[in-house]
Amino acid sequence: MADKTILRALRGERLPTPPIWMMRQAGRYLPEYRATRAKAGDFLSLCYNPELAAEVTLQPIRRYGFDAAILFADILLLPQALGADLWFVTGEGPRLSTITSAEGLRGLKTRDDIHEVLSPVYETVRILSESLPEETTLIGFAGAPWTVATYMVAGRGTPDQGPAHKLKDEDRATFSALIDLLSDATIEYLSKQVEAGAEVVKLFDSWAGSLKGQDFEDFAVKPAARITKEMKARFPGLPVIAFPREAGDGYIGFHQKTGADCVAIDNSVTPEWAAEHVQVSGCVQGNLASRHMVTGGQALVEETRRVVEAFRKGPHIFNLGHGITPDADPENVALMIETVRNM
Ligand code: CP3
Repeated sequence: MADKTILRALRGERLPTPPIWMMRQAGRYLPEYRATRAKAGDFLSLCYNPELAAEVTLQPIRRYGFDAAILFADILLLPQALGADLWFVTGEGPRLSTITSAEGLRGLKTRDDIHEVLSPVYETVRILSESLPEETTLIGFAGAPWTVATYMVAGRGTPDQGPAHKLKDEDRATFSALIDLLSDATIEYLSKQVEAGAEVVKLFDSWAGSLKGQDFEDFAVKPAARITKEMKARFPGLPVIAFPREAGDGYIGFHQKTGADCVAIDNSVTPEWAAEHVQVSGCVQGNLASRHMVTGGQALVEETRRVVEAFRKGPHIFNLGHGITPDADPENVALMIETVRNM
């Protein structure tokens, strides 16, 4: 286990070839994913069906031999386990019942009540830990509290996270209590994933970039630090990846401030900038623009090489800057992997 390439990079080792996986690697760009999803009925039924969720997790491993598999689930299963209604509108995205007041918050369940709903996810992890190739690392994950809260407050994805900012600015006590509940529940959720066999955990803070100044410290840095500290206390040596997407200058020092072993980088910064300002503090993951998986060609090859070159001096896990999109060409993924491994 200690020899898995991803775990070596997460311990701070610089490897001659960076290990590679891809956000949303199990997804709609793959015909075999679409077939299994159709068999499950819909997206949420797939998330809660351990055999089929494990199957879609394994598909990109079989097809491409990625160095890591990420549990197939969604960051919005946790709010559902806390009592929110959740459904997905095809072609649009998630919808949830909303939390906009202290009263709404009191109506949610506690961190100890989440496991009944989430137990199929833990079963998926158990199946995966028994069926993955020996060299493949299994990554568990959760949404970071701020990003999950933006969906719980608005009831859907929003371009500017306006409803969550409004609650935060008008009733900071209630908003902070929601963040605390999510932080506690996330620790319990991730702990069960690790007990079931996840070897690494990743926190997705997709909307971290809309937090500025003290808000970034209070709602992106502090929850990530608290979750990381508690997970490492419970599971000594457990590696943690943090993804404060579009944090910009907020990426600087994020390793030290949160205790995360690896910081994932999006496409709002260049790999050269990230090598100079972020990789100096520890392992980084990223950051080829996901549009290259659609457009392919020589630009894909050149940009892939550029990312590998930029991060050559330190620990690096190759990945995209955000999830692969449904219109991507599976052949381009193969070309990216071949380019990384042949350098
Ligand atoms: O990376 C992986 O493959 C692991 C599984 C995973 C999914 N979602 C599967 C999924 C992970 C780690 C996520 C994280 C997630 N989910 C985030 C954070 C990362 C990010 O992308 O910014 C967010 C914000 C969500 C919430 C969510 N789930 C949205 C907004 C949507 C709709 C948008 C879309 O792409 O359709 C989803 C659906 C979703 N989650 C899909 C997948 C494969 C597509 C659903 C389908 O098959 O129809």
